[in-house]
Amino acid sequence: MKPYEVLLHDNKHWAARKKAEDPAFFERLLHVQSPEFLWIGCSDSRVPPDQITQTEPGEIFIHRNVANLVVNTDVNLMSVVDYAVNHLKIKHVVVCGHYGCGGVKAAMSNRDFNQVLNMWLRNIKDIYRIHRKELEAIPDEEQKVNRMVELNVKEQVFNLAKTAMIQRAWSVDQRPDLHGWVYDLHDGLIKPIVEMKAGADLDDLYEFEGL
Ligand code: CO
Repeated sequence: MKPYEVLLHDNKHWAARKKAEDPAFFERLLHVQSPEFLWIGCSDSRVPPDQITQTEPGEIFIHRNVANLVVNTDVNLMSVVDYAVNHLKIKHVVVCGHYGCGGVKAAMSNRDFNQVLNMWLRNIKDIYRIHRKELEAIPDEEQKVNRMVELNVKEQVFNLAKTAMIQRAWSVDQRPDLHGWVYDLHDGLIKPIVEMKAGADLDDLYEFEGL
């Protein structure tokens, strides 16, 4: 079997097993989608959101990109947030990074990754600049990257809070709560880093009036 054929083969087994365990499984998910969580995670293949949280199909709405960034000019991400917040009415948004993130590491180097990746990684370099003092006081390179991963998650949660979309949902509907987490590849555990409950305080500069 070719590698991609293994995927199709395993899919058949999975579908059969699901149906055997719970005959109404697919039927139930067919007509409604009402997940409680939006997950914004890294594309890294070692951090599969549903497996590490033991959730089933239908439970998490997912967006993934390199280094789990919330860029407000990213039409892809903003459409996902819009749909999740305004249509699915999700209650929690989780931004989940992971220690040792290759995207974060790359952004901390001076290597030229050519046009498109450079554009994306620039967003992370800007975060490094904001936290330069704290980061450069860390002598160990791995620890520095890991602290940067935490700061990145924090800034991405703030980036969500800076959007009128989130602020409007907070003022109209008192949701969603925003959570910043970091997954550890060493032991499979998730560490909560930051939490912003709906309506949380925000730098005045970013607050919209009349929402
Ligand atoms: Co990563």
